[in-house]
Amino acid sequence: MKKHSIVIAGGGSTFTPGIVLMLLDNLDRLPIRQIKFYDNDEARQDIVADACKVIIKEKAPEINVVKTIDPETAFTDVDFVMAHIRVGKYKMREMDEKLPLKYGVVGQETCGPGGMSYGMRSIGGVLELVDYMEQYSPDAWMLNYSNPAAIVAEATRKLRPNAKILNICDMPISIENLMAQILGLSSRKEMKVRYYGLNHFGWWTSITDQAGNDLMPQLKAHVKDHGYAIDFSDAGQHVDKSWQDTFKKVKDVYALAPDTMPNTYLKYYLYPQDEVEKTDPDYTRANQVMDGREKHVFTECKRIAENQSTEGSTLEIDEHASYIVDLARAIAYNTGERMLLIVENNGAISNFEPTAMVEVPCIVGKNGPEPLTQGEIPRFQKGLMEQQVAVEKLVVEAYAEKSYQKLWQALTLSRTVPNARVAKELLDDLIEANIDFWPTLK
Ligand code: NAD
Ligand code: G6P
Ligand code: MN
Repeated sequence: MKKHSIVIAGGGSTFTPGIVLMLLDNLDRLPIRQIKFYDNDEARQDIVADACKVIIKEKAPEINVVKTIDPETAFTDVDFVMAHIRVGKYKMREMDEKLPLKYGVVGQETCGPGGMSYGMRSIGGVLELVDYMEQYSPDAWMLNYSNPAAIVAEATRKLRPNAKILNICDMPISIENLMAQILGLSSRKEMKVRYYGLNHFGWWTSITDQAGNDLMPQLKAHVKDHGYAIDFSDAGQHVDKSWQDTFKKVKDVYALAPDTMPNTYLKYYLYPQDEVEKTDPDYTRANQVMDGREKHVFTECKRIAENQSTEGSTLEIDEHASYIVDLARAIAYNTGERMLLIVENNGAISNFEPTAMVEVPCIVGKNGPEPLTQGEIPRFQKGLMEQQVAVEKLVVEAYAEKSYQKLWQALTLSRTVPNARVAKELLDDLIEANIDFWPTLK
């Protein structure tokens, strides 16, 4: 089997060590000859990459390791770009979450005004990565999970229509892992699903076993009372208390359309006031992550680098991230794996805008994804999705045209924002906070 060269863009991400451990655990499925770390914050990346070097040296010393902040060095001679950048880092995530809360509006990384604010920063960063890849390794594919994925995906569709980029989200993977546990299955891969929506905005319409037997009734019996809540001692990435609350809240989201299973993120659109009430405006998810995951990962990384050994390390393989290997293998070996991806609708949802970026099951092979038809969707979901896709498209148009007006319209149109006056006041706050990142709006 061919050995691959990979660049991890956003090398300093808190998720990098877990993904590296996962890649090393999957070398029989996806052989690797080189791993490069690329970031635009050298000091932050050094902490993570120096530890990853030790990890790789212990487990697979034959793999060549490169850490760099130079795009040419990073993007030359690679087969895959695994991209998880956060433009503005946690400091700006904190702003995205806290500024809307001042107005009693949902403060969230990817949903509502916070997601739009992050989107306006992220688009430029991701386009830059696409351009480096096309310049230095034109045959490579980018596997992108940089957020807000819905807006980033629309931006690459519109502004880089020929880019070899696959946009993917891990939330459905995590939810399917929970569903599998609820159903008593040993793996989510025992399920076959039908699903439609936008990123962080979708519904499962069918879940069967591989023989075609309907698993929905058993799942519904659990979800109507408990949402996706289970015994979380073994739940992987999403184990924090706030995530457990999210999985419980699914009960209320489910109640609105009980013939389907919902994505967790719909709670921000269907119960925005409940979320605002639950949130401490002085200590949001960004604070939890900085005090939790970031502190843990960085402390461990520093210790590994200092000792030049992983002995006693509590860094764990991010098992659920093996979907990234599934995706890379689908491209590399033309496996035809069935996966949920964020792709141009183009008829997959027959009564929905053809150019919308939708999340649907796709068959993935060496030439990319082939979306599977999901047919007509009901009026309730269609109405919600039309409003939300308009928000996402308006944000991208606002970015491309540097238009204040369109961004104001986008904010006003979001279900999370009560009226145009609040939208404008909040927009003006966000412009000020993002002065170093957003294009100057006219
Ligand atoms: P993080 O801040 O720890 O890491 C992001 C890294 O990106 C930082 O080291 C930062 O310096 C770097 N960066 C920022 N702008 C850059 C640029 N223009 N070029 C190169 N590097 C740049 O963040 P994190 O919490 O580890 O998350 C990373 C990203 O992954 C976020 O976008 C997050 O939303 C996303 N994520 C997505 C999914 C999904 O389902 N799609 C799941 C988990 C995380
Ligand atoms: C899920 C979503 C991601 C999001 C992440 C946030 O995995 O699919 O898109 O980035 O949650 O998690 P965090 O722990 O940083 O709040
Ligand atoms: Mn996601």
